[in-house]
Amino acid sequence: MSLKGIKIALGVTGSIAAYKTPQLVRQLIKAGAEVKVICTETATKFVSSLALSTVSKHPVLNNISDGDSWNNHVALGRWADAMLIAPCSANTLAKLAHGLCDNLLGAVYLSAVCPVFVAPAMDEDMWHHKSTQHNIHTISRYGNRIIPVAFGELASGLIGDGRMAEPDDIVQYLIGFFSQSDSLPLLGKKALVSAGPTYERLDPVRFIGNFSTGKMGIALAENLAQKGADVTLVLGPTHIRPQNPAIHLQLVESASEMYDACNKAFTHCDITIMAAAVADFRPKEIATDKIKKTDTTLELTLEKNKDILAHLGSIKKNNQILVGFALETNNEKKHAHQKLVQKNADYIVLNSLRDEGAGFGGDTNKVSILQKDGQIKELPLLSKTATAEAIIAYILQD
Ligand code: CTP
Repeated sequence: MSLKGIKIALGVTGSIAAYKTPQLVRQLIKAGAEVKVICTETATKFVSSLALSTVSKHPVLNNISDGDSWNNHVALGRWADAMLIAPCSANTLAKLAHGLCDNLLGAVYLSAVCPVFVAPAMDEDMWHHKSTQHNIHTISRYGNRIIPVAFGELASGLIGDGRMAEPDDIVQYLIGFFSQSDSLPLLGKKALVSAGPTYERLDPVRFIGNFSTGKMGIALAENLAQKGADVTLVLGPTHIRPQNPAIHLQLVESASEMYDACNKAFTHCDITIMAAAVADFRPKEIATDKIKKTDTTLELTLEKNKDILAHLGSIKKNNQILVGFALETNNEKKHAHQKLVQKNADYIVLNSLRDEGAGFGGDTNKVSILQKDGQIKELPLLSKTATAEAIIAYILQD
């Protein structure tokens, strides 16, 4: 049981228990986590940033901006697989309960899309005060997990409730959470997704392309990243971008650029989904000057592009999952099955342009998933986000 590969944003606030946080960081790292620390101004009076940056091997962040540079709280909130606020003072607790955002910690908290764990620390009377208990109740209702306070000697000299849980107990709490959790089933896995159209240049101002917008592939990349995978998205020319900053985005234009990018990333990937609408042909020659309309007709000679999916299918190892798409207009299942076999994919996701709400551009899709053994899973008309979830859930349960 460990925290292997889990990225933790640790928020440290102004409480005497902050002196235990270098030890906490050490233990989190020992359990396999990567830790980035954010301190409030008061926290730095109880624990040195130097100690925390030394043990975490990352600079300690304090303010929304440092001089001329801006600490991107959204990126940090989305980088983290878990946010831990330990110790959490009564003051910060009240801010969390009310969405106050007057420091970097508050901004990261409001931007975090991961589970948040709060280890409160304060004197006994503060802990039992109605407003504190109300705030604890409020943040629990928001879905935050409260790591119970310990009983013992307090900074006031009194004995009672309110001590921050010991670093060991906090680490065990997180390990317990992540070992039960199935929310990150692809943690530690690498995934590759191709999406969007490709443009094949004709001359300096024209290209041959298609109507793909990349929405389906982007939704798949987002879903894989949400499940904890380390995702590379090779994206053809489209204005749509993934939201998740953890996705490694590689922008390409032509089929041959897409081939190079996919071929390079593929070897290390556990799951590969080729959702791009790749042009099958490219102009044999790209005119250096704009083609003029001198004649009444224009003949173009096209040559075949390499088939990326077929190439990856030919080099794929047994432990790699390879998924292709097929967009068909007639004899859909027969053509999709041929692609499955010829390209040595494990699954083909079939869209038919005859189905209303399926295909390019829209926000919905209606697909069937074909497998080599002849099994076919038909999905209803769903949003592209829900289709992505259903496709990946199907592959994972298989
Ligand atoms: N594909 C690819 N490289 C190509 C052409 C297609 O990787 N040069 C992939 C697509 O990303 C998709 C699958 O192959 O995953 C099927 O694409 P599709 O356009 O439906 O079929 P094609 O193989 O191009 O066959 P056809 O156009 O004749 O239907």
